[in-house]
Amino acid sequence: MQKVIITGGTGYIGSHTVVEFQNAGYEVVIIDNLSNSNIEVVDGIESITGKRPQFYKADVACHKAVDDVFSKHDDAIAVIHFAAYKAVGESVKKPLLYYHNNVQGIVNVLDKMQEYNILNLVFSSSCTVYGQPEKLPVTEESPVVKPESPYGNTKKINEEIIVDTLNSTRKLKAISLRYFNPIGAHESAKIGELPLGVPDNLLPYITQTAIGLRKELSVFGDDYNTPDGTAIRDYINVTDLAKAHVKAVSRLTEDHDRFEVFNVGTGKGSSVMEIILAFERSTGQELKYKIVDRRAGDVEQVWADTTKANTVLGWKAEKTLDETVKSAWEWEKRVRGESV
Ligand code: NAD
Ligand code: WQD
Repeated sequence: MQKVIITGGTGYIGSHTVVEFQNAGYEVVIIDNLSNSNIEVVDGIESITGKRPQFYKADVACHKAVDDVFSKHDDAIAVIHFAAYKAVGESVKKPLLYYHNNVQGIVNVLDKMQEYNILNLVFSSSCTVYGQPEKLPVTEESPVVKPESPYGNTKKINEEIIVDTLNSTRKLKAISLRYFNPIGAHESAKIGELPLGVPDNLLPYITQTAIGLRKELSVFGDDYNTPDGTAIRDYINVTDLAKAHVKAVSRLTEDHDRFEVFNVGTGKGSSVMEIILAFERSTGQELKYKIVDRRAGDVEQVWADTTKANTVLGWKAEKTLDETVKSAWEWEKRVRGESV
């Protein structure tokens, strides 16, 4: 059985990815320091797949901790690197925290991959590296711009560190997956997104409002140059996104370019109002919302050109927006102890 190491594997996207690797027949080793997740996620994964992944509570920003795990698992064929902090606003207030965690993490991972001959890396990048693209949909050839936040900058820097490292050694290969907006939860409702405190992201804010934890959703701006005036994003189902990582590892083990970038989205943009309507339609819940000013730093509209992922990676988003939004609601109900 082929083995992969998944950093950040108890997190939101990581946990869904562990499930997809196990379903595809891989043995999975997780490294996570539980800074933004909890150990019960491993139970959820086991309950879905019938297999318990190996779990190490360890900090990827600590060189020795990464060495301890990688030295024991030098038979792994790939590392999927999710472990990072991801709150855009917090990164503006605490840039050094973000640079330390997100930059030191990739440095340690690449260093130990070289040392232990673990040759393939899949990296979690973000559409944030494109900023507001001039042309839509955005292809992988669109320029990477100056990021809006220290968080976004860590994604740009991580990609640069990966490329520089690959250029210095003929051994390693990497795929950077630029995620658009991941939403939803596993169809079993046994794993999903668990934001700490008040959510920044749209879908968790919607589900927490509908369940009564928040008074109402604030829609950030209805005066954008879009058909209904609200901002547009490409919302990708988290299980579909997880499957792209399995495709990426099989591609890395074949004979292709040593560094490749793929957009991972649906190829379709949805406005904030369209997401609200999809939520109301698919769940039968009425959502309280009000229109407020634009949020600082938000781009107006972005969605992916997924041609490269579809044709070269052999991956395509499959779930509909309605089933994805509904899966987020089923998860929210389960988390709050309501019957699903
Ligand atoms: P998450 O916070 O749910 O998962 C990240 C996991 O990494 C958490 O379990 C956390 O405990 C762990 N972690 C953080 N720092 C660590 C460290 N130093 N050592 C070990 N573990 C550590 O976030 P997510 O939404 O699952 O995102 C996963 C990755 O995808 C991140 O790199 C994120 O930047 C990237 N990404 C996320 C989104 C999104 O909207 N969720 C979009 C684009 C890219
Ligand atoms: C989506 C839309 C908001 C909350 C962020 C990061 C990005 C990437 C994905 C990691 C926007 C609107 C939101 C609310 C709202 N993460 N909104 N009311 O901003 O596209 O991207 O997550 O790489 O880097 O910046 O996602 O979910 O916060 O917002 O109206 O309460 O919903 O203005 O148009 P965003 P989001």
